[in-house]
Amino acid sequence: MDTVTADNPEIPDHPFGDDISGILIDEPTLQRRVRELADEVSDRHRDAPEDLVLVCVLKGAAVFMSDFSRALSVPAQLEFMVVSSYGSGAESSGTVTIVKDLATDIAGRDVVIVEDIIDSGRTLSWLVKDLQGRGPKSLEVVALLRKPDRVVVDVECSALGFEVPDEFIVGYGLDYAERYRTLPWIGALRPEVYS
Ligand code: IMP
Ligand code: MG
Repeated sequence: MDTVTADNPEIPDHPFGDDISGILIDEPTLQRRVRELADEVSDRHRDAPEDLVLVCVLKGAAVFMSDFSRALSVPAQLEFMVVSSYGSGAESSGTVTIVKDLATDIAGRDVVIVEDIIDSGRTLSWLVKDLQGRGPKSLEVVALLRKPDRVVVDVECSALGFEVPDEFIVGYGLDYAERYRTLPWIGALRPEVYS
């Protein structure tokens, strides 16, 4: 697994480019790693009798889900959830509510939670417990990013893309105030933009 730092000064020409202090993960690196994660998960479920259930946590993981699912070489169904984690400012609290629940029964199924980023780990750890309570045959977490310096609750990942520094990360689904999700690479947001 790769640890990345925002030391790449080459920011591709983009209308939001001036808001970004550095590229953490460029597009080819991101695409390559997403394919590796999909290969890992496919290998583990090669002979599964039933299709995988991919659970995407909206909205942040939507872009990752799209590329990851298309790189799988085993059958999978796409499911979506919206949860909201109330807290002060940028901190999540661990008090999570389901805004939109799964539209499928996951009892007896092989379930893969597809997450964009693990920050404190509170949201994900709550979700793992909630889904575990629904009796899946197996449950694993695939996360694209993790901020190791921020983790409060440890959540086990069966596959993890990159460890990132404690900065505000945007792009490839990750937002600040609903902006930057559509960037095809991942960068660090300049503190002036969010403070
Ligand atoms: P946690 O409960 O503290 O782990 O919060 C996780 C959620 O917060 C992620 O699923 C993201 O939606 C959001 N988040 C955490 N850090 C960042 C960041 O650097 N940029 C954008 N969103 C983030
Ligand atoms: Mg999220």
